[in-house]
Amino acid sequence: MPSSQEWKTFYEWGLAYGPLVMVEVMGQKMCIINSYTVASDLLNDRSLIYSDRPAMPMKFNMGLQPYGPVYRKHRRAFQHGFNRRESNGYQHIQTRENILLLEKLLINPSKYDEHLRTTTGAIIMMIGLGYPITENDRFVRVAEAAQLAMVSAARPGAYLVDLLPILKYVPEWFPGASFQKVGREGRELSRELQEKPFAWAVKQFEDGNALPSFFKDLMENKEVASDDPAEAQHIIQCATAVMYATGADTILASTLTFILAMLYAPHVAQEELDRVVGDRLPTYADQESLPYINAIVKESLRWELVIPLGVPHKSTEDDVYNGYFIPAGTIMIANQWGISHDAQVFEDPFEFCPERFLNKESPLPDPSTIAFGWGRRICPGRFLAENSLWLHVATMLASFHILPAVGADGKEIIPPREYTSGMASRPLPFPCRIIPRSAAAVDHIKQSVASLPESYM
Ligand code: HEM
Repeated sequence: MPSSQEWKTFYEWGLAYGPLVMVEVMGQKMCIINSYTVASDLLNDRSLIYSDRPAMPMKFNMGLQPYGPVYRKHRRAFQHGFNRRESNGYQHIQTRENILLLEKLLINPSKYDEHLRTTTGAIIMMIGLGYPITENDRFVRVAEAAQLAMVSAARPGAYLVDLLPILKYVPEWFPGASFQKVGREGRELSRELQEKPFAWAVKQFEDGNALPSFFKDLMENKEVASDDPAEAQHIIQCATAVMYATGADTILASTLTFILAMLYAPHVAQEELDRVVGDRLPTYADQESLPYINAIVKESLRWELVIPLGVPHKSTEDDVYNGYFIPAGTIMIANQWGISHDAQVFEDPFEFCPERFLNKESPLPDPSTIAFGWGRRICPGRFLAENSLWLHVATMLASFHILPAVGADGKEIIPPREYTSGMASRPLPFPCRIIPRSAAAVDHIKQSVASLPESYM
């Protein structure tokens, strides 16, 4: 088993052995899928038997829960809050935070990474709980740390803990036993994450001061989660905690990929923005009339994957697929990175080429049907995430040129396309220049900031 950037090795295995590769690690079968058709046939069309998760010792999150009645209740609550219609109902929050982001980029563009992190955190905490974040916010820091612990828990190497149950009893200081620490820290962080922001939100709710949010919506419709009010409250608490543990970082990573890609690709979309939108910032109302921007969003989700190996599924019944036997209990890994770089489907897969999605004659699979996973476990936050990414892409391109940094020798520095390892991946920090396109672009941002209401109240 590779120990880092597993998706690249698995992709090579796919090229060498075919789209469905079975490996066995200490008696545990793992199926690695490198083809869109195979992943869709198995994980979408047969999702009744491919929706379990490998037992992960650190499953403090619905996304890692086994498939069953408890999981389904959590999932129902989540879906209720983030179906397409409900997700669109939060666009005013994304719009406001995005305008503040543009202002920060205007003032201090080199800290774009930090600004984006604040923006995605603010969006998620406001949508999740109606909580307005402050500078260096404690809840946001806890959410980030919990997310880190969660992604470590779900890496393929982490399942080895299940394969060798004795490892659970190995003390933390034992060489190679760092997972123990992650498990303990993860549990502590997740407790803090579940309890403190929730207690704050419940107080606001009881005092009649809660702002519209996923939390408030569920508190007013508790029966969606469970007929038993105490269980419903527990599910709402978990759902909100999962949301801010998973939401902010994923949106951040996909937006960073867009920025990195802009250093490789010409800004053709700006012509479309000028022609269609003209003398103002683009808004969600322009979405239908901006096919090139929509294509950039798709290509950003395809070019590099936020969760390159997806989250593993597990089969619950024996199955036969195209003559191959897949026994119950097999861990299914859809190599989403590999599938998105399948040259049979996406020509020149390593190029950033939004135009590939403009050809209506032979449409390609929509990358959102890969990047957000499969079947019953498909990412329930996908509409919200796509809305955020779309607005960042459209307004940043309307307002700024995103260019490579310039070195001491006067030459442009094209950063390497390097990503972190782990379940969730993002570009390693890279320098770039984000400069206003024109005086008018600066005015649009300033006017938008000036017309924002003081707060959400
Ligand atoms: C670009 C952003 C995002 C990407 C690429 C992404 C991707 C994914 C993927 C690949 C999965 C696993 C699906 C599977 O098992 O097949 C997943 C699950 C999940 N995502 Fe996302 N996600 C994103 C944003 C979000 C946001 C914003 C939220 C919260 C509002 C969210 C909440 C979840 C949850 C709760 C699960 C677990 C679902 C389950 O096990 O039933 N995600 N996501």
